[in-house]
Amino acid sequence: MHLLINTGGGDAPGLNACIRAVTLSAVRRGFRVTGIRRGYSGLLESGERGLLSLDRDTVRGIADRGGTILGTVSRGQPFEYLSTDGQGRSVVTDMSDRIMTRYRELGADGLIALGGDGSLRIAARFQEKGMRVILVPKTIDNDLGGTEATFGFDSAMSFATDAVCRLHSTAEAHGRVMVIELMGRYAGWLALQAGLAGAAHVILIPEIDFDIDLVCDSVRHRYETNRPFAVVVVAEGAKQKGSDFVVTRRDAGKEPTLGGVGALVAARIQERTGLETRHLVLGHLQRGGSPTAADRLLALRYGGEAVRLAARGQWGRMVSWQPPRMTSLSLNDAVKQRHVVGLEDDAVRTARDFGICFGDG
Ligand code: F6P
Repeated sequence: MHLLINTGGGDAPGLNACIRAVTLSAVRRGFRVTGIRRGYSGLLESGERGLLSLDRDTVRGIADRGGTILGTVSRGQPFEYLSTDGQGRSVVTDMSDRIMTRYRELGADGLIALGGDGSLRIAARFQEKGMRVILVPKTIDNDLGGTEATFGFDSAMSFATDAVCRLHSTAEAHGRVMVIELMGRYAGWLALQAGLAGAAHVILIPEIDFDIDLVCDSVRHRYETNRPFAVVVVAEGAKQKGSDFVVTRRDAGKEPTLGGVGALVAARIQERTGLETRHLVLGHLQRGGSPTAADRLLALRYGGEAVRLAARGQWGRMVSWQPPRMTSLSLNDAVKQRHVVGLEDDAVRTARDFGICFGDG
């Protein structure tokens, strides 16, 4: 059997561990494994330039490395591929037929795609075109439905928790309000869990629209009750009641890049309370670095299950972690599901029990 493997979307700690797991499990079965560089782009390059042959030697010692040895493309879309023409104008082309041709020329039996929600939708479309695909869910956002956890999330959440904890001493020393913006796109998992574990006083997430007056009341109340500092965690996808997401970048044909809501919240708190307020954006630090042991293990187990599915001929599936079992569901079922924070989630209820403010009264 000849397996292809690629990594798509934003990188996440654990990708290399998963590449190693797929390669070792496949090679032991006598399968050949070829990595595609930069998502699907490697299949559009001539010769071997876009490919990397994977064996025991290539994947030795990579399990604890961040990033991906294959490279990746954020928001890369082979069905609506963006490039520039001779005059510097953006052109959108459907590259999927060219990719299918190259896939067949390589004599591939199937593709193991490591990716998030965008990669899942692309995988489902390629499966319809005749490519045999298994998706392994990765993303620091933890927003894929059909699985309990994506790898990459634990590493990002652990790092973000540490960052939130570090803000306490500086906030307290200066008697300031410190606002930190975390990633997560339209899901609040990172902000909720890092905020709760890091003992934030206010947590704003996309699933609960916030009222800035209530946020200010909560901050003011701390100062009035002898706790003169505050740590506020804001998910990049959090939005004020009646307002839209705050967007930092819009590129034609691509999902907008969220960001800026932390600065906005900080400015409003300072204006309305008069309290000295600072803000920071943790940004891509959340995606960098080594995976935690939990993520490494999850990524290895995901990779192992992906190869077992391929060996059994179970294509068109997404590997799914349903503790304590690794299982799978069809790509079409996975595409329909979303994983966002439920208002009755016990982490939300626990935070409320502690008096943490979500800005919703
Ligand atoms: O999906 C992962 C993620 O890190 C999001 O949390 C964030 O909104 C986005 O990717 C950032 O993307 P980029 O790397 O293109 O800036």
